[in-house]
Amino acid sequence: MHLPPYKIKAVEPIRLIPYKDRLVAMKEAHYNTFLLRSEDVYIDLLTDSGTTAMSDNQWAGMMLGDEAYAGSRNFYNLEKAIQDIYGFKYVVPTHQGRGAEHIQSQLMIKEGDVIPNNLYFTTRRAHQEIAKGIWEDVSVDEAHQPENDFPYKGNIDLDKLKDCINNNHVPFVSMEACVNMAGGEPFSMQNLSEVSSICKEHNIPLWIDATRLVENAYFIQQLDGPVIANGFHESVAEIVLQICAYADGITCSAKKDGLVNMGGFIALNDEELFERMRGMVVIYEGLHTYGGLSGRDMEALARGLYESVDDDHIAHRVGQVRHFGEQLQEGGVPIVVPIGGHAVFIDAKRFVPHIPQDRYPAQTVAASIYEESGVRTMERGIVSGQHGDEPYDDMELIRLTIPRRVYTSEHLEYTANSISQLYKNADKIKGLTMTYEPKELRFFQARFIRSPL
Ligand code: F0G
Repeated sequence: MHLPPYKIKAVEPIRLIPYKDRLVAMKEAHYNTFLLRSEDVYIDLLTDSGTTAMSDNQWAGMMLGDEAYAGSRNFYNLEKAIQDIYGFKYVVPTHQGRGAEHIQSQLMIKEGDVIPNNLYFTTRRAHQEIAKGIWEDVSVDEAHQPENDFPYKGNIDLDKLKDCINNNHVPFVSMEACVNMAGGEPFSMQNLSEVSSICKEHNIPLWIDATRLVENAYFIQQLDGPVIANGFHESVAEIVLQICAYADGITCSAKKDGLVNMGGFIALNDEELFERMRGMVVIYEGLHTYGGLSGRDMEALARGLYESVDDDHIAHRVGQVRHFGEQLQEGGVPIVVPIGGHAVFIDAKRFVPHIPQDRYPAQTVAASIYEESGVRTMERGIVSGQHGDEPYDDMELIRLTIPRRVYTSEHLEYTANSISQLYKNADKIKGLTMTYEPKELRFFQARFIRSPL
């Protein structure tokens, strides 16, 4: 067990509302946990995005916000932090990750281009498709198998990648670190280096979604990173730099690894593309020295990035997620293995095997977990799979995402016990029927009713 490298200086009150009120709240939210009011939630495991507790050092930095429209000193601090940690020359700040994806996709994709990805992330895929590109999955088969404990489910299948490149015009290869949709699963350094060689051979840029790249680096450190002296591993900071050395650029939602509540960026080495990105950021985000962020946001991020690569921080962070997953396993709850970096994913197909996929098993279990415990989780099944007419793949998962530095082991123990209890009576849970479906990213706002089945 890795001990927390922090103590608590400020607390935020939370309250568990009574069971009968939770039933009403879930019904009024149309059985979609995104539509719950946060004040009705006791423990919020909806996402690890922007839900971080900042450090005293970051809060101190907030007071040093230079809110100049142009050339804020905090931008230069942020630029230096990104250069130091990720090793790229040029930085474009954006308001969050999807702002970065938008600019990158618009500038790098032409109609009909095919972009190989290791699985999808909802917003990244949406931006590739809005730019008239075709998203293609080249992840290893293991990424689709919740019961397979292959340690590197974030890897790209090299044969699928070569086929994709040989048969299509590929503007860049898109590789996500610690793949969210596979369960927060890393790629290996070996696989990354092979993907990079294939890209170089075909003169195709390699772009990494670096949202959880530090967590990926930690897995590499633990699983196969070199031991340099006296039993000590190479530091996570060094591994982060090695990963980035293989890439031509990164897009990043800083709301995860970056330990802030808002922010994102692009970092790259190609000067000509950088100039075009700077041109575009002005139109959609803000001037190139703030990109939609206030000076204080940029300062908090600059400081958060340095904290994110601290070995003790990341060991505790990933260790807390693993410990929580193990508690669920002890309660018999079927989860995706190996336990990922940012979340534990419950396999709804095994949790409620009596509910068919067109009654949304993962959506259903997410609603039932809230009713049972006041804990908010997220569906990652066919509702998130984006297109109403074609189930994206056969996974039906519920994500229990752990915010960074926010919850204690008591909170997580309560959650694991409540879900284990629910699982014992899971055969009584009834599925859902969708009554409203938005056109884009339907999972955010879709509405449901409980079906009689
Ligand atoms: N890439 C990955 C891998 C992500 O997980 C996210 C966001 C984004 C890009 C987009 O970044 O939200 O800052 O615009 N993931 C959040 C989540 C929403 O809950 O997993 P954003």
